Amino acid sequence: MNDLPNPSIIHHSSLIIAWMAVLPIRTFPDPFLKTPSRPVERITPMIHRLIDDLIETVRYHPRCVGLAASQVGVSLRVAVVDVTGHAKVQRSGGLMVIINPQLVGQVGELIQREGCLSIPDFTANVRRASRIQVKALDRFGRSWSRWLEGFEAIAMQHEIDHLDGKLFLDRVANVRTDVFRRKRYWFPERR
Ligand code: NI
Repeated sequence: MNDLPNPSIIHHSSLIIAWMAVLPIRTFPDPFLKTPSRPVERITPMIHRLIDDLIETVRYHPRCVGLAASQVGVSLRVAVVDVTGHAKVQRSGGLMVIINPQLVGQVGELIQREGCLSIPDFTANVRRASRIQVKALDRFGRSWSRWLEGFEAIAMQHEIDHLDGKLFLDRVANVRTDVFRRKRYWFPERR
């Protein structure tokens, strides 16, 4: 009996390995990115796995501050945002898991350069609200609401757009003056 490994430990550790994955990103002009995502009706283990994989995928890509489920081919209103440590951020609320988010307040205006893993070749100047109030469910289905400002508010609006089937290119005022080809490509660090 004693030399048999504890099955619960083996099962547990293999689950953790299976539950963390860097997912492939869909890129423009994949029509999936233009399709509005469906609301989450029930938070299942599949949703938890999706959230963990979104977090893992964001952290794999340097300077990535958010990711929506539609970008990895899942049509559900789930996204993550974390602007911690980004050069443009002084104050951050840390990692936010957003399920079925709604923008319930919008104030002010801000034009900022945006990029997106799904549009690797371009950046653009995009006009958005400078302060927003977002309401969403967390990964346990608890409702939360928060005011965000500046870069963090921009990142949140960008991810909610993904869930509505919109890309930052759809919000550009003038394609000729406000869209920029990336001068050089950057690659994720190999870990
Ligand atoms: Ni994006």
